[in-house]
Amino acid sequence: MRSLFHKTIGFCLLGFAVVSCQDKEDPNYQYMPDMYEPVGYEAYGEYDVFENGQEAKLPVEGTVPRGWLPYDYENNPQGFADAKANLTNPLPYTQDHLVEGKALYTIYCAVCHGDKGDGKGILVEREKILGVPSYDDVGRAITEGSVYHVMYYGINNMGSYASQTSIEERWQIDHYVMSLKDQLEGNPEREFVKEEDVQKSMLPSRADANLYQDAGDVNSEPENENNQTEIQE
Ligand code: HEC
Repeated sequence: MRSLFHKTIGFCLLGFAVVSCQDKEDPNYQYMPDMYEPVGYEAYGEYDVFENGQEAKLPVEGTVPRGWLPYDYENNPQGFADAKANLTNPLPYTQDHLVEGKALYTIYCAVCHGDKGDGKGILVEREKILGVPSYDDVGRAITEGSVYHVMYYGINNMGSYASQTSIEERWQIDHYVMSLKDQLEGNPEREFVKEEDVQKSMLPSRADANLYQDAGDVNSEPENENNQTEIQE
């Protein structure tokens, strides 16, 4: 009985000793340290564990990033002619898109093409660049498709805007460029698409935005469900 008493006390003391030795500043004893201390690889770092020693990988061939659509027209005269004849703006002509397009146009295009699209941007006036056409140039007869095509690939002295702008942004700029062309030609202003006729989820980037919004919306209305079926089609 006495020895049991001593054992118990001894055990308690031992337990106390173990617990009290723990330094609260340090992590506790780690059983499977791998899980506590993962190896963090720097993006673009060089590590032997990777196939070519490089952390950053190219996307798997044939995969398409979310919100991105491949552009079907090739960067050659035939592709240009096809886009010019057949490609149309998938975004509805709304005030929102036009306002957005104007802002982007002012950032990316106006330095050369001018605020009015007459080819008299500041760089042209300072003679830093030559041969910038006006959007009402009869010989060029630009269309929604051709405007998008040159933004995507660039044309001669004009660079591509594919990396600076998203698909949607390019189409917004496109609407604005066509509205500038109308103004230059003295055509009546194009009417905006009515709110109720605006089709949602026109582009994958948009569809995604709606999808995420709906997912987070607890009180989602039946209207949202329609939206989602549209996307899956
Ligand atoms: C650095 C100056 C510069 C900027 C910035 C610029 N462009 Fe251009 N753009 C040109 C030049 C130069 C041409 C004439 C190219 C040629 O055909 O030789 C041109 C031609 C065009 C054409 C006529 C293409 C055709 O059908 O022949 C369109 C449309 C156009 N640009 C749209 C845009 C849009 C939209 C932006 C902004 C996203 C933009 N440009 C930005 C210099 C520029």
